Amino acid sequence: MQMNETLSVIRNRYSCRAFDERPVGDDILRLIAEAGVQSPSGMNTQKWHITVVSDKSLLDEIEGAGLAEMNAMPDKTAIDRINSRGGRLFYYAPVLIAVSIDATGGDLPLLDCGICVENMTIAAASLGLASCICGLAGFAFQGENEKKFNEKLKFPPGYILGMSILIGYEKNPGKPHEPDSGKITYI
Ligand SMILES: Cc1cc2nc3c(=O)[nH]c(=O)nc-3n(C[C@H](O)[C@H](O)[C@H](O)COP(=O)(O)O)c2cc1C
Repeated sequence: MQMNETLSVIRNRYSCRAFDERPVGDDILRLIAEAGVQSPSGMNTQKWHITVVSDKSLLDEIEGAGLAEMNAMPDKTAIDRINSRGGRLFYYAPVLIAVSIDATGGDLPLLDCGICVENMTIAAASLGLASCICGLAGFAFQGENEKKFNEKLKFPPGYILGMSILIGYEKNPGKPHEPDSGKITYI
């Protein structure tokens, strides 16, 4: 079988850690978010919500809160990782997409959230944009910041952050990890 456009986009998507600060157009963001709500979910429950944040002052506030939280932790693993990559949690990305999930739904919403996130990263790559799934953004939503940011990001009542994605244009071309075919078994 030959490579096709979809497979090629999947193969070339990578986690970008150096964004150009150029803004992303609303029409493009809409296509990415629509790819998110097109995701499959267990029993079609769709217990996720997508918040697209392009407001720079809000992005800076979330990033600052996340960095402060990481700096305050006795375990320096996370902040050392960030500092080794230039000290920025969001790598100057102009957009953060937060996927919030129903906190009462058990494991299924989190699994569905992962699928939704991947749909959006693939959609972004197909549109020539770079992305980085950003689990570390979760540090910004800890303690008393959680309620504040849940409100500012307009999460539906009872929803909590599932996962975030950084979106923007790449500063320099990057490469994905080397896929390990040894992780596949054919029977
Ligand atoms: C759930 C999840 C959380 C992640 N969180 C972060 C993060 O906070 N910061 C970051 O730079 N990369 C993050 N990544 C990106 C991974 O490090 C990356 O996917 C992995 O190293 C493989 O590289 P590739 O995506 O370029 O192929 C995350 C990826 C996933 C799936």
